[in-house]
Amino acid sequence: MSSEHTVKAVRGKFLDITRVVTSMDDLPDAVRLIDDGLMLIRHGKIEWFGQWEDGKHLIPETVRVRDYTGKLVVPGFIDTHVHYPQSEMIGAHGEQLLEWLNRHVFPTEKLYQDIDYAREMSAFFIKQLLRNGTTTALVFSTVHPESVNALFDAASQLNMRLITGKVMMDRNAPDYLTDTPESSYEECKALIERWHKKGRLLYAITPRFAPTSSPEQLAVCQRLREEYPDTWVHTHLDENKAEIEWVKELYPDSKNYLDVYHHYGLTGERSVFAHCIHLEEEEWDCLHDTGSAVAFCPTSNLYLGSGLFNLKKALAKKVKVGIGTDVGAGTTFNMLQTLSEAYKVMQLQKTCLTAFEAFYLATLGGAHSLGLDNCIGNFAAGKEADFVVLEPTATPLQQLRYDNSRTLAEKLFVMIALGDDRTIYRTYIDGRLVYERT
Ligand code: GUN
Ligand code: ZN
Repeated sequence: MSSEHTVKAVRGKFLDITRVVTSMDDLPDAVRLIDDGLMLIRHGKIEWFGQWEDGKHLIPETVRVRDYTGKLVVPGFIDTHVHYPQSEMIGAHGEQLLEWLNRHVFPTEKLYQDIDYAREMSAFFIKQLLRNGTTTALVFSTVHPESVNALFDAASQLNMRLITGKVMMDRNAPDYLTDTPESSYEECKALIERWHKKGRLLYAITPRFAPTSSPEQLAVCQRLREEYPDTWVHTHLDENKAEIEWVKELYPDSKNYLDVYHHYGLTGERSVFAHCIHLEEEEWDCLHDTGSAVAFCPTSNLYLGSGLFNLKKALAKKVKVGIGTDVGAGTTFNMLQTLSEAYKVMQLQKTCLTAFEAFYLATLGGAHSLGLDNCIGNFAAGKEADFVVLEPTATPLQQLRYDNSRTLAEKLFVMIALGDDRTIYRTYIDGRLVYERT
């Protein structure tokens, strides 16, 4: 391949967070804004990043520079919890978690037994991610292996860094949606062998939540994790009070909800627990001690009336946190809108989320929560070239407010508070343009 095809040069204003922080007090020092910057990309990886003046001589003569002056280039957003087979029932009216699952979610997920349908919806889902600037996601599929094959297949066409897995669910769900400990073991094993680490794809062992897995099935999850120790674990935890009571009845010997998963070795690095709203002190400690991560899903938590996630406590306990849209309990694929709702969730608890904290959670912090900060999340040389070009003045109102704001923090916050998919001007994955706003 000639160098024109393998090298790309992007010029513009760049914003990223240079390092993982253990305290948000350290964050301001890690914010990097380059007003006139250059990113050189080779074979989908960032080869050089810095000031335009310092790097322009490195651009091969034959390479055309993509100039995004006037826009803002940021790392691709990372959605740490989302359900692709709920795209078509987003915004379902009326219930809280357990009734909502039975009434709206399960009948919809049934459709994914049909591979053609799963393929069609995988394509739709990935387009939604791209038009919202999301370049990596940790995704729930359905119980059907076909649903996983369809999504991995679609993501592999873009060489996208995406994590998913077959839902494991052997009780307390309709017959048409349940597997068994044995069948789930065989199916997961085959899927891991087929997809895990193929290109940028990664596999997550995905028990839906404790109520829908028997102890025998959680033991299967443990076995899979032991046999494939570099896979992910992805599930739900402490979202809703009725759910928690149910878990106590089903697992009476466990100290608390998280202890059910912990008992089966499902906590640890690369274990991601969605929601975590009603945690007991011991559960916070267990999350921290095991290096597990939480996906904070504000639009979902408000929509289902589940409660308010205590981000301040998570940060004080030094528990890793990422942001999840949790579509279809969540009401948008858009990370800016999700961050805006996160801000409101904090306001309701009389605490504050800064613009930089929000930005960190959606980029490098999200990558860290997924154990992927070595390859995505900022513009460090050597990382994968997934990035988004934002247009901070996409609407007349945003233009007015942008012109009327002074500091970087204020401009960034206005983009979060007022932004949506119109703010996403271009999306790049693996150094390639994959979405252009029309
Ligand atoms: N808990 C178990 N399954 C689900 C789901 O699909 N969505 C949400 N929000 N919570 C769950
Ligand atoms: Zn969920």
